[in-house]
Amino acid sequence: MSHGTYCTPVPHNEPVKNYAPGSPERAAIKACLQRMAAETVEVPLVIGGEEVRTGRLAEMVMPHDRQHVLGTYHRATSEHVHAAIQAAARAKVGWLETPWEERAAIFLRAAELLATRWRDTLNAATMLNQSKTVHQAEIDAACELIDFFRFNVHYMEQLYAEQPESAPGMWNRLEHRPLDGFVFAVTPFNFTSIAGNLPSAPALLGNTVVWKPASTSVLSNYYVMKLFEEAGLPAGVINFVPGSGADVGDPALTHPSLAGIHFTGSTATFQRMWRQIGAGIADYGQYPRIVGETGGKDFVVAHPSADTEALVVGLVRGAFEYQGQKCSAASRAYLPRSRWPELKDRLAALLAELAMGDIRDFRNFLGAVIDQASFDQLAGSIQAARASSDATVVLGGECDDTAGWFIRPTVIEAHRPDYVTLREELFGPVLTVFVYDDARYEEVLDLCDRTSAYALTGAVFAEDRAAVALALRKLRFAAGNFYVNDKPTGAVVGQQPFGGSRASGTNDKAGSLLNLLRWVSPRTIKETFVPPRDYRYPFLGEE
Ligand code: SIN
Repeated sequence: MSHGTYCTPVPHNEPVKNYAPGSPERAAIKACLQRMAAETVEVPLVIGGEEVRTGRLAEMVMPHDRQHVLGTYHRATSEHVHAAIQAAARAKVGWLETPWEERAAIFLRAAELLATRWRDTLNAATMLNQSKTVHQAEIDAACELIDFFRFNVHYMEQLYAEQPESAPGMWNRLEHRPLDGFVFAVTPFNFTSIAGNLPSAPALLGNTVVWKPASTSVLSNYYVMKLFEEAGLPAGVINFVPGSGADVGDPALTHPSLAGIHFTGSTATFQRMWRQIGAGIADYGQYPRIVGETGGKDFVVAHPSADTEALVVGLVRGAFEYQGQKCSAASRAYLPRSRWPELKDRLAALLAELAMGDIRDFRNFLGAVIDQASFDQLAGSIQAARASSDATVVLGGECDDTAGWFIRPTVIEAHRPDYVTLREELFGPVLTVFVYDDARYEEVLDLCDRTSAYALTGAVFAEDRAAVALALRKLRFAAGNFYVNDKPTGAVVGQQPFGGSRASGTNDKAGSLLNLLRWVSPRTIKETFVPPRDYRYPFLGEE
């Protein structure tokens, strides 16, 4: 029982370490990478705090050195998912009664553990198994996940302080209850921080969770699970169940206790889950909350007044960092005809400088794409562009899966505004450019707005303020995160709450109070101190 109205620590964004030559953090991460690459680990399921080995093993590999097996993980069957749901239900009893400040303390401790003892482990696992450079791992697995923990605690405090008025003689209260069932968290490979946030945000609010990690990021995600345990998260609050979409997803999604899904992944999967929930809607104990962030066809629109270097750097970082595998990555650009020759030359010069290879060599700006399926899809799209009269591959385009799944940063020039790679998400290092007549800037904004079904991120580059204002107005619904003279990636928790609408998701803004609202089901409590003892109202009296 609490005896105080506690204030949580004021959150701040975790400083990003730079890993420059000679720095202590560089030496430490290099040692950790070497150690982890030399071992093979076996990752179990974690259900109700118990490690479970199913014997249905799958390999965890390095995408940039695909023969290198980092270990194996056990895959769940539907029985394990049912056991995880039961464990979540058992844990709910105690977790529900745990004072909010105790829950906060566990996640604040997780933040400090990650900032210190666990930092190298999570970064190295993210580098090796997800092929992130040290900088991309640091801003994700360390800094962003720490920020999620710290800021969500702060937002929980704000949410709980949201209370109604009370008229004289009574007290009205809002109890911000967790949902009445379990939350199913389905997490993506591309951000370890999102993988950690999707189960932990609902858990912080008193929910218990079944967590299905992506099959291509199990190593780092397992270490996140160990971090939760070390931070003091009680057994069964989060249950870790890797496995296939069908083996894990179907039993979780059709269970009557499903209270919500917290999802990041492909649009097709999200829509399938939504349909599945819709089809069984009469069978649930409550209407499941559906919170999802999916794909994007994220754009950069350049006005003729755009600054060349700012624009080209924005395109290179925005389109190609982490091999373009961010939901937010720039994947289409609308560039003015008068500037195209100069921009193409600058892009060509910068792309020629970008080294690609094993992320353990810190000179590499790029690693490999995540797996064979992704490689094949990207190589196929590049090949189709080469074969099409509607497009020209102007830069890059080389694909080589001999050692790892490597795709050179590629720029396609589309000759039609509805060319397929201007509309559909590829999720890789491929940027499609559409060159427009300078005088048609306003028309190109309309074109950008209606070309793709997505609305996640977008950017405008212009020195002319009126051009910026016009883009803000015309593209109001084209992106949930909109950037002016900046790349459309790299949202920071507490600064640019992240999420998009249309086909991109429910725009519930991860790492913000808006997201936490989805994990509570408020109960209004009215207490009348001295209740009336006569049913008659004064108007009932005789004249
Ligand atoms: C993402 O979810 O893909 C990343 C967020 C960002 O880069 O802003």
